[in-house]
Amino acid sequence: MVNFRSAVVFLYSGVFVAGLSSCSEDLANSGHTSISARPLVIAHRGASSYLPEHTLEAYSLAVEQGSDFIEPDIIITKDGVLIARHENELSGTTDVAQKFPTRKTVKIINGHEVEGWFSEDFTLTEIKTLRANERLPFRDQSNNGKFKIPTFAEILELRARLSDQATRAIGVYPETKHPSYFAALGLPLEEPLVDALYDAGLNRADAPVFIQSFEVDNLVKLNKMTEVPLIQLIGADENQGKSIEFEDVARYADGIGPAKSMILPVSWEGRADQQSDLVKRAHAAGLLVHPYTFRPEPEFLPERYDGDPAAELCAFAALGIDGLFTDAPDIALEAFSESCPMTGR
Ligand code: G3P
Ligand code: CA
Repeated sequence: MVNFRSAVVFLYSGVFVAGLSSCSEDLANSGHTSISARPLVIAHRGASSYLPEHTLEAYSLAVEQGSDFIEPDIIITKDGVLIARHENELSGTTDVAQKFPTRKTVKIINGHEVEGWFSEDFTLTEIKTLRANERLPFRDQSNNGKFKIPTFAEILELRARLSDQATRAIGVYPETKHPSYFAALGLPLEEPLVDALYDAGLNRADAPVFIQSFEVDNLVKLNKMTEVPLIQLIGADENQGKSIEFEDVARYADGIGPAKSMILPVSWEGRADQQSDLVKRAHAAGLLVHPYTFRPEPEFLPERYDGDPAAELCAFAALGIDGLFTDAPDIALEAFSESCPMTGR
């Protein structure tokens, strides 16, 4: 674990920016103010409002839009290779059903029966024959079938290449998905994850990396395996975060990733007394706060913001969050540079 003070230094000083390319020295001196003045923008599964999630193309677009971090959700193949998908059931975002019609099966995952095609039943060679599809029907479907499923190693290579091209250190923010489920199958995620970071020169406290998980035990395990900062994700159904002991989280993690409704409820009407004190309490325990997930589409944006995603982003920025996960990094960056009053952050 990295303590809060050093995590802030890592993020907000030249240490974050340094380390990857020959031009990082200049950025180290110039990047401080611009990054510290606003929340970090974490591209949730890529630039997911625009391109099929968890593809190299979606991560690249997010970087082009100016994202600070790209966020791959990590699962594993039958032969132990980490790949990027939100679920180990693959049919929601790939053409696996068409390519492997006979491989459908039923599994119990986190206590729920799930029918479909599962990453742990496919080799990487088989996974590489698949193509990504857009998950949500109201988003652009025209790129379905075009893009491959990336490995985590390929994402790290992309990150390094784009950092060099962009002359800034782009961060990577992997999330371990279903870690205890995979461990029970003899396919733990933590060792290959740390090995991949090591191979990429990123297994160090000052690397532009966060590792996140909804589970606690694997973060506790990771805390003993790596100096990379860790983020405890918290689901929306946990009584608005009131029961969470942030001092306990701070023993193994460096921050929290709460559902955004834990900070401002969906029904928020703008009154201060409706805001939770979660950000203040987490900061008091020395934890960073990176809520999820900010999406601009009317299907997601709460009514209160009247169709203006910048209004939502500004409301959260004003509460002092340290970063946020968004499907539309371009909108967040534009809001933070033009719309939101950032005084007092
Ligand atoms: O990792 C932050 C956020 O992505 C968690 O939710 O379900 O989109 O992975 P999910
Ligand atoms: Ca995620």
